[in-house]
Amino acid sequence: MQIKVFSGDPLEFATQALVVGCFEDIGDDKLVGRLDKSLHGALASLRNRKEFTGKHNKVIELKTLGNVPAERVVLVGLGKRKEFTHERLRQAAGAAARALKASGVSICHTVLNQQGGDNSAGIRAVVEGINLGTYSFDIYRTSPREVTDLAELTLLVESRSQIKAAEESSSESRIVCGSVRLARDLVSHPGNIATPSFLAEQAISVSNRNGLTCHVIDCDEIERLGMNGLLHVGKGSIQAPRFIIMEYNGAGSGIRPVVIVGKGITFDSGGISLKPREGMERIKDDMAGAASVIAAMQAVATLRLKVNLVGLVPAAENMPDGRAYKPGDVVKTMSGKTVEINNTDAEGRMVLCDALHYAQRYKPKAIIDLATLTGACLVALGAEASGIMGNDPILTRALKMAGEATGERLWELPLWDEYGEAMKSDIADMKNSGGSHAGTVTAAWFLKQFVGKTRWAHIDIAGTAWEEKGRHYLPKGATGVGVRLLVEYLKGV
Ligand code: BES
Ligand code: MN
Ligand code: ZN
Repeated sequence: MQIKVFSGDPLEFATQALVVGCFEDIGDDKLVGRLDKSLHGALASLRNRKEFTGKHNKVIELKTLGNVPAERVVLVGLGKRKEFTHERLRQAAGAAARALKASGVSICHTVLNQQGGDNSAGIRAVVEGINLGTYSFDIYRTSPREVTDLAELTLLVESRSQIKAAEESSSESRIVCGSVRLARDLVSHPGNIATPSFLAEQAISVSNRNGLTCHVIDCDEIERLGMNGLLHVGKGSIQAPRFIIMEYNGAGSGIRPVVIVGKGITFDSGGISLKPREGMERIKDDMAGAASVIAAMQAVATLRLKVNLVGLVPAAENMPDGRAYKPGDVVKTMSGKTVEINNTDAEGRMVLCDALHYAQRYKPKAIIDLATLTGACLVALGAEASGIMGNDPILTRALKMAGEATGERLWELPLWDEYGEAMKSDIADMKNSGGSHAGTVTAAWFLKQFVGKTRWAHIDIAGTAWEEKGRHYLPKGATGVGVRLLVEYLKGV
């Protein structure tokens, strides 16, 4: 998608669609007033008949029949003025974008950014909303869909002096959105394509394109390194596990890196502790953490952020088989700690524990892991927030703030030592599953045993990685959650 920035009278541009935001408490919005006049009072009458009142994310499309140069006007509700935030703007832009896509619009102009104060955050919110709202994943269709993609977006700013800054902000967003789209693509690929080796190939090509170093550890080396958690989870699958290492040097040598770790289970059948059949197809998204890590590495490198960053992805497929790991097995993890397996479906923590241990060798400033780790997190927080737990309040707070800024909200759950009671094993250092109570927290407690004294935060994206219905800038399917969050956090490091 090409993005342009112009200044000038919005009502004088010939375009397929002019996207305009409306507040519920309209006040004296000059543009809406002029548009209403050009359309012979159409907007006022829509409002009077309560067909379009400016309710947040409500969209209406009007053919202009030659009354203004734009072929159609797409009005989108911004809600109440005093409730306005950049996230609300991002959502409104996303809602408008979905309407544009449904109507097959390929060229549009918008003034939505002016409602955001035409500052950098407002520009970015509009670009993100529109770019991400028009996403779809169509590569497995052999007959093309009837929708055309939005090819060109023009942001109209109020004065010429704002053009340069707006261009900079929009090109930054375009880079970030490109990475969110990459993450969505990776998650959307079916499990028969997106295998551990496929993830590794993707990481290599992202690295080659963006000047990152990438090292892929294969099954033999995983065994030699003693990464037995990862090895055991992968044992039931014909697809051998991989351990992917991506490195970006943006701050010069000697500066301690941040390490980001993503759960890369390319399909989670549950293994011998098999999941129920209903909805099992969705669990191809169990590598959403890995997708976000690979995509965030790409974004950070393209933006040339001044940070040293390492991305780690333990990738495996969790399957039942004669060779599969099974309940009752005891696994010696890379750290030396032993784990009794009481549920092979608690596999995410088994691959993550080795990655978290491996991360220590970088003497990192901080470790952040992202994982579709527990169904319990979906039960607790739904799709509105990812869960966050960690051992460092300052790190947690910084991530929460990045969550507010990006709309990828985080909600903290407690991580008291007492939760470890549930993880006691009769024969090993710990069990891998603590049962149904506080499942999100006991999973995080398990991970905490492998980070030593390093500052660490764990983000459970089980509820946020996949959008069930489709809303605003999140079309149905993979959300790419975590990419914008990580980039925003890393900009502040
Ligand atoms: N990947 C799942 C968690 C999950 C479930 C994510 C549904 C998204 C949607 C994870 O590996 C898992 O199976 N967790 C178990 C843990 C339990 C066995 C302690 C769960 O949530 O049931
Ligand atoms: Mn599982
Ligand atoms: Zn899983």
